Amino acid sequence: MSKRRRLIVGNWKMYGRLTSGLVLARDLAEKAQANKPLDFDMIICPPATLTWAVSETIMGSPVMLGAQDCHTATHGAYTGDLSAAQFADLGCRYVILGHSERRIAHGETDELVARKVEAAQLAGLTAIVCIGETAEQLAAGSTAEIIEKQLRASLPDKCRMAHLVVAYEPVWAIGSGQQPSPADIATVHKVIRKTLGEAGETMQIIYGGSVTPVNAGPILYEMEVDGALVGSASINSDGFWAIAEKCR
Ligand code: PGA
Repeated sequence: MSKRRRLIVGNWKMYGRLTSGLVLARDLAEKAQANKPLDFDMIICPPATLTWAVSETIMGSPVMLGAQDCHTATHGAYTGDLSAAQFADLGCRYVILGHSERRIAHGETDELVARKVEAAQLAGLTAIVCIGETAEQLAAGSTAEIIEKQLRASLPDKCRMAHLVVAYEPVWAIGSGQQPSPADIATVHKVIRKTLGEAGETMQIIYGGSVTPVNAGPILYEMEVDGALVGSASINSDGFWAIAEKCR
């Protein structure tokens, strides 16, 4: 078993209203509380509208809180945006950055992601940086090359490696029901570790893309895989907990 602590992250995306979000958060907090001490880390990343209420709901439980994105600045005239410091104020300890849905729908570049990582780490948050190849890049056999390039460009020069988690999320696997084989995931995680140099040995590298309670077992069985970033399957407390238990 690897010495790296395992990590399960729930990305609620734009799902969850006040009532449903708090029921989900409370259910998970109760499960985590009943299983204390947890032998893995559990982080939930609700939509920003729920951050504060979820923070209060999970307070005192082992469940930790994350955001789904943040701005590069600490404050300023940026209508509609939110800073890492503002999320930190609400009890967030993590922030997902460079998710492919933001790269695609909001045109986020590697360079912008790197600046966000810097801002997040300055605010004391751990950045969960997402990278992954498209279906075309996979078909062209360029996955390793793309991953290495994207990773290097998405990290700031002064990256605090102790406040970084890398999520390998093939774009073609997100929300599609398709996935690489566990062996292929492990191969890419090794590329990521090698790219990170010495820091790669202790870095938590997690996999995301259509993870469900049914397919999580064989993926998390891989020594190279330190956990999972779960989207749609994270908005059901029993299902998300079942995935988390596979971290044991
Ligand atoms: P999915 O999403 O589990 O619904 O594929 C993963 C993600 O977007 O992080």
